[in-house]
Amino acid sequence: MEYKKLAELATGAKLSSHPPYSNFHVGAALLTEGDKVYLGGNIETSSYSLTICAERVAVFKAYSEGERKFKAISIASDAPGFCPPCGACRQVMLDLCGDIDIIMINNKNETKTLKLSELLPYPFGANELQ
Ligand code: THU
Repeated sequence: MEYKKLAELATGAKLSSHPPYSNFHVGAALLTEGDKVYLGGNIETSSYSLTICAERVAVFKAYSEGERKFKAISIASDAPGFCPPCGACRQVMLDLCGDIDIIMINNKNETKTLKLSELLPYPFGANELQ
């Protein structure tokens, strides 16, 4: 699948978000090696810190369906600029998805693609636990 199409799916996934407190809608579309897509939207609760980002919803949905190999994730928000993943999501994605491509899309339908390792250099990981 082309990354432009994946970014469109991330934009559509904003509709599945539930952000009653921030009103900041985020959508994510995670592409597997087998070309399947898992969508996610951010979900907030009244205890704010229990919120989960769109990216982690998509990753956990995919994992719970048995997926283990991934190519890319696209992230869309309502902000005018590109929405980079938060630090917690960077760690989760590196651990569970590897060094995938991160495709951000802004409200002019422009995309910016970075490797996850560019966003999370010198990471903590499984090697440190040995
Ligand atoms: N959020 C995401 O879903 N993904 C990001 O990459 C950044 C932030 C959500 C969390 C919270 O529901 C709202 O955006 C505001 O921080």
